Parts: sequence; structure tokens; C-alpha cells
Amino acid sequence: MMGTLERETMPVRPEQINSRLSGFYQRSIEERIQLIRDQISLSDDEARVLGTGLGLRLDQADHMVENAVGLYALPLGIATNFTINGRDVLVPMVVEEPSVVAGASLAAKLARTGGGFQAEADAPVMIGQIQLVDVVDVETGREAILVNKAALLKRADEVDPVLVSLGGGARDLLVRIMDTPKGSMLIVHLLYDVRDAMGANAVNTACERLAPELAALSGGRPYLRILSNLADQRLARARVTIPETALAFNGFEGAEVAEGIELAWAFAAADPYRAATHNKGIMNGIDAVVLATGNDWRAVEAGAHAYAAREGRYTSLSSWQRDGQGHLIGELTLPLALGTVGGATRVHPTAQVALKILGVREACALAEIVVSVGLAQNLAALRALATEGIQRGHMSLHARQVAMAAGAQGPEINDIAGAMIAKRNIRIDAARELLKRRQGQ
Ligand code: MEV
Repeated sequence: MMGTLERETMPVRPEQINSRLSGFYQRSIEERIQLIRDQISLSDDEARVLGTGLGLRLDQADHMVENAVGLYALPLGIATNFTINGRDVLVPMVVEEPSVVAGASLAAKLARTGGGFQAEADAPVMIGQIQLVDVVDVETGREAILVNKAALLKRADEVDPVLVSLGGGARDLLVRIMDTPKGSMLIVHLLYDVRDAMGANAVNTACERLAPELAALSGGRPYLRILSNLADQRLARARVTIPETALAFNGFEGAEVAEGIELAWAFAAADPYRAATHNKGIMNGIDAVVLATGNDWRAVEAGAHAYAAREGRYTSLSSWQRDGQGHLIGELTLPLALGTVGGATRVHPTAQVALKILGVREACALAEIVVSVGLAQNLAALRALATEGIQRGHMSLHARQVAMAAGAQGPEINDIAGAMIAKRNIRIDAARELLKRRQGQ
């Protein structure tokens, strides 16, 4: 399935990145930024965006949403070790949950032993839906629209000549007859290539433009005119092959870990209760990169879960299977409506820096990275769950968060966290007590 997207995977910069930054997590924030700058030519302003957290300004926020009164900050971490389609990538992730960045980096390290992730993304074709109600004869109405398909597609192309000049525009028009609780309707699907945009604006505008003509042709009344977040024409796929031997750790045999991951997948494939959590683990990675790049994570979430239920039953988005020859093979497919232009991606300075670190200019290339991070995150979660359990890995970061919540600052944070871990009692009341004692109260 791979190797077809040379154009999309073309890095912004010619230089080769090395994502294998050993001991990165032990460095100070300043040292980490310097290590990134050693490889990626960030300007002083761009480095300041990382170092100070002062990416978005209040006056910019005021133009983004109504009634703005402030900014809301989240941690931005860099996942290391990723190699995707033969290229090393440093991955910015915005997330509040401990262990996500570490989990992705660990899984990417395991993936490296088998050559890293192979990923591809479909052409960025979105679906716009136009609802036609009160159509007297739906069959005749459908025919009337389809006979005029070429003219309708031409009309849709007139909506955005710039997009067309960039190689995007209307691709196809389908008409579905839908039986609903309120009677039969015609649902027109406009397939629209949005190039490097997420595409909501372009598609919604095209739908609104076509609606009166579709209504006239069908004899119906146009109602909703809006994109579908089930962007199943715009799928991204990642695959990873890991030698079982590389999975051995902490006294667990590699084959044992591989079998555990396979069984964990089987559970998620069969049970929606487990699949929801399994997919949440995937979205931990996906959302973090989607957020870092200023993209619409609600759209991606909606698309992912609708896709997971596409066969009438909610199931796992990924699969993990052993090949019988000593390898564990993981695959993930989901819709990814992502943009590298437009919206917050363009306005938010931190999103711009994130795209620069990723080295991508095109939406397809971004989707290839995001789907790979989702698969990595899934691997990290299943590896932990199928062996020593999730809590052990979570412990130290969780303990630090609890220490901070209790009021610990600076060096107190690690001291209090360490004491709670040693006593196996990670609770806010324990943290408060330890802090009181440490401060000699
Ligand atoms: C926690 O944020 C994510 C996990 O629950 C995912 C999973 O269970 O696969 C650990």
C-alpha cells in the first residue's frame, strides 16, 4: 500500500532530521528547545513561542471567538523516535494527560526496530451533503439531478477558482434516496477536493451554492447544506511491523507481549465497551497532534468514531496480529480531515511552529504523521495493559500532578511525588501532609 505519495511526504526542508534524541526527557526545557533548534532552523521569535508559551495573543484570540476574555494554555511536548515513510520526524503534541508523549515516543522507538511506520493518505476529498425534502417523486428527482451532473460540478467549481487552480474542486456528485421518520428525502453528496485545507468552508459554500439548482431540478425543497464529518473519502492509513524480540521488557518475553497485544485487540474488535477505550487511546495521540497544529479535533473525533461504527457495530479502529514469523503487525485506518492552511492553523503562532517542526506543508503529509502517532499511542497502551498494567507507567507523572495540585512548587514537586510513590499512596491528602511536613509546618 505504501510508497505512492512521494509528493505529499516531501519535507519542507531538505535536511535530514534525527528524531532519535536519546535522554531528551532528562534535559531542561531550554536544552530541549536548543536540541530542536540544532536540527530545525527556528527563528528567535519561533523559539520564544515554544519557550514562553506565549503563542497566541489576546488580540488574535479576540478575532477567533466571540466574547474572548483570555487564553487557555496546555502543555506542548515533543514525541521523539518517529520514523514515518523512511523520514525521521519530531512530533509536537498538545495534551494535558501524563504518559501520552512518553508512550508515543516509546512505541515509536519499538517501531524503529522494524523500519518505522508506513503511512499513506487519500486525496483530500470531503463530502458535502444537501438535503432535499418534499420531493414528489424521488426516483425522477434523482434522475433529473444526475443527468445534470457535469453542469452542477462545473457550478461547484466556480465557487472557489483558487482551489481549482491548485488542483482541487468538485470531483463527483451522488444522490441517495433516504427513508427517514419524516418520509423519503433526497440526499445529495458533493465530493470536493479541498487540497491542503480542512475544507469545511469550501464545502459548505459549494453546498449552499448548489442547493437552489438541486431543488429546482428535483422539485424539492433544500434544507441542510453542510459537510459530513464522516470524511470516509479522506482516509489515512498507517502500518507497522515490529519484531517480537523487540517487545521483550521487564521480564516479559517478546512473544508473550505480542500475544498479549493481539488478544487485547481481539477484545476491542468484539466488544464496543472495550473498543471505546481502545479507540480513546488512539485518539490520545491523534488529538494531541491535531491540537498542536491548530486543527479541528472535534471534526476528527466525530469522523473517527462514526468510521468505527461504519458496519453497524462500534469496533476497534486498529488491528494487531502476529504474522507467525516472529513479527507483530499493527494497522490503523481512519478519516482525517486536516488542514495546513486556513483557520487556526494559519493564525496560531504555536501551530505554525508545530508545522515547521513536523516539516510538512501538505495536508496529506500531516495526515500520514497523525495516523502513525495514533497507531503508536495504541501500541503503547496495549503493551502496558497486556503486561504490567497501565498504572505503573502513569505513576510518576500522576504523582507529580497530585503534588502540584496540593500546592508543591519547584523542587518540592519531585520530592513529594517520590515520597508518595515510595509509600504507594498517591493521594491529594497524602501530598498535603507531606508538603506540610517538608515546609516544617
Ligand atoms: C487512557 O487515556 C487510554 C487507555 O485507556 C487506552 C486503552 O485502554 O487502550 C490506556
